[in-house]
Order: sequence, then C-alpha cells, then structure tokens
Amino acid sequence: MNLVIFGPPGAGKGTQSAKLVKEFNLFQLSTGDLLREEVSKKNDFGNKIEEIMKSGGLVSDEIINNLIENKISNPEYKNRIIFDGFPRNLDQAKSLDNLLKKYNQQISLALNLKVDNQILVKRITGRVTCSVCNKTFNIFFDPPKTCDLKDCGQRKLITRSDDNEDTIVKRLKTYDEKTFPVLDYYLKKGIMKNIDGMQDINAISDQLFTIIGAVRSWLWLLDSYNRIFSKIKFLIYGSYSWSKYSSK
Ligand code: AP5
Ligand code: MG
Repeated sequence: MNLVIFGPPGAGKGTQSAKLVKEFNLFQLSTGDLLREEVSKKNDFGNKIEEIMKSGGLVSDEIINNLIENKISNPEYKNRIIFDGFPRNLDQAKSLDNLLKKYNQQISLALNLKVDNQILVKRITGRVTCSVCNKTFNIFFDPPKTCDLKDCGQRKLITRSDDNEDTIVKRLKTYDEKTFPVLDYYLKKGIMKNIDGMQDINAISDQLFTIIGAVRSWLWLLDSYNRIFSKIKFLIYGSYSWSKYSSK
C-alpha cells in the first residue's frame, strides 16, 4: 500500500517515516531529501533550489513532479511508498493521483501529525542530522547517540540551512496557506487519519503501526474477496457457456 504522511515543518514526518520503513518494508519518498540531494551537487540548479528552500517557499511543481515520477515508475517501489512532504499543494495532490493511476497504483491512507506551533519551533531549532546516514536527532528531545545504521558507526552531525527561526516562521506560513487545504482533499476521499503528534516518538509510532496494520488487513481481505469473486464468476459463467456450446 502507498501512504502519505502530513504535518507542518518539524511535526515528525521524517522520524516516523523511518520507523514505518523498518516495520512494514516500505520506501520513504521525501521530496525535501530529494531536493537536498540536488542542493549538495552545488551546481546552478541546486543553488536555485537552495535559495527557495531558505526563503521558506515551495519549489516549482514541475521540478517536484519530475523528481517523483522517477521513483513512482520504479517497479521495486510499487505499492510500498510513503510520501513524506508531498503533496504540498492541491495541484501536486491531483498530479500525484494521475501519476499513480498511470502506474496502476493509488493512495490508501493519509496520516496527519498534529503539533502546536510552539513545540514545532523547538523541535526544528533542536534538530541535528547525521550527514553520513541521514538519521535525525534532537538536542532537546532525542539527544544524539552513535548512528546505528548498517554503514554508519560514526556521527557527523549537521544542522539544515533552513532550520533557523526566520525561515521557520515562513515555512509555517507556507504550510498554512498551501498545504493545509490539501488535508481536506484526502478527508473527502475518506482516507485521512489525524494523530496527536505531541506524544513521545514511540507512542506515535505504536499508534501508526496499529492504523497501518488494520488498513493493510482490510486491503488484503478486499483483494482476496475480489479474487474469489472473479473465480466464482468465471466458474459459473464458464460452465454456462460450455453447457450452451455442448448442447448445440
Ligand atoms: P522538508 O524537508 O519536507 O521539510 P518540512 O516539511 O518543513 O518538514 P521537516 O523535515 O522540517 O520536519 P519533519 O516533519 O520531517 O520532522 P522530523 O521528523 O525531522 O522540506 C524542506 C523544504 O523543501 C520546504 O520548505 C520546501 O522549500 C521544499 N520542498 C519539500 N517538498 C516540497 C514539495 N513537495 N513541493 C515544493 N517544495 C518542497 O522531526 C523534527 C525534529 O523533532 C527532529 O529533531 C526529531 O528528532 C524531533 N521529533 C520528532 N518527533 C518528535 C516527538 N514526537 N517528540 C519529540 N521530538 C520529536
Ligand atoms: Mg522531514
């Protein structure tokens, strides 16, 4: 199943996505991470993206759609993508639906982490990320330990260039104006779940595991029902056609 994880800057989308990847063997598609990868190339394109990110605005839909089609079209990720930080406006939400349709997929669940602005600012100003394995820590809430990923026994901690108080205010404003209306889009589809994102990290992931587990079981049941139903239809229709044919 594919799912979307929403929440304002600092809500914990990246932190929770990493846990869901491990628990359900999913693939995390973070448009923020893809953009930071472009920025790290230090060419004209990357520099332009960095300017926009530092301003707290959104990068153009065209750039984003090109970056994500590359991933959605990859058969290895089929029906196992967590979209983190995408879609961020209504046009992106509609493009995502069209793209998924093109590759015979859909979104089955949208999760929304709700956190108060005051806490978001503290989470963002305290965030540090390992530049080797990308694991995120927080100097206030989740102090850095040695990274535990396979190829990272070290820790080289960096702070994101858009994690300063000026940019945070702009990022929160952009979220309210452009991204918040997208929640309604998924609410109307009946696949939106709100989660209290102010609990501690493990309490939130336990809740997400339960929700995703339930939706996965439901999708599995639906799929089994459809397969059995089409077999029965085939048997009834097939034997009817055969008896008509043999009585001639
Ligand atoms: P992006 O990288 O997506 O940033 P964001 O949406 O602003 O979200 P963050 O990554 O800051 O927060 P998060 O929710 O992932 O929180 P995290 O888990 O790290 O985008 C950056 C920029 O790229 C955008 O501003 C835009 O310019 C551009 N961009 C990206 N996507 C785009 C798109 N689709 N279209 C156009 N432009 C796009 O947690 C934060 C901190 O809190 C960490 O330190 C963590 O340890 C801590 N923490 C997490 N959960 C808890 C908890 N429960 N309790 C205590 N601490 C916690
Ligand atoms: Mg993130």
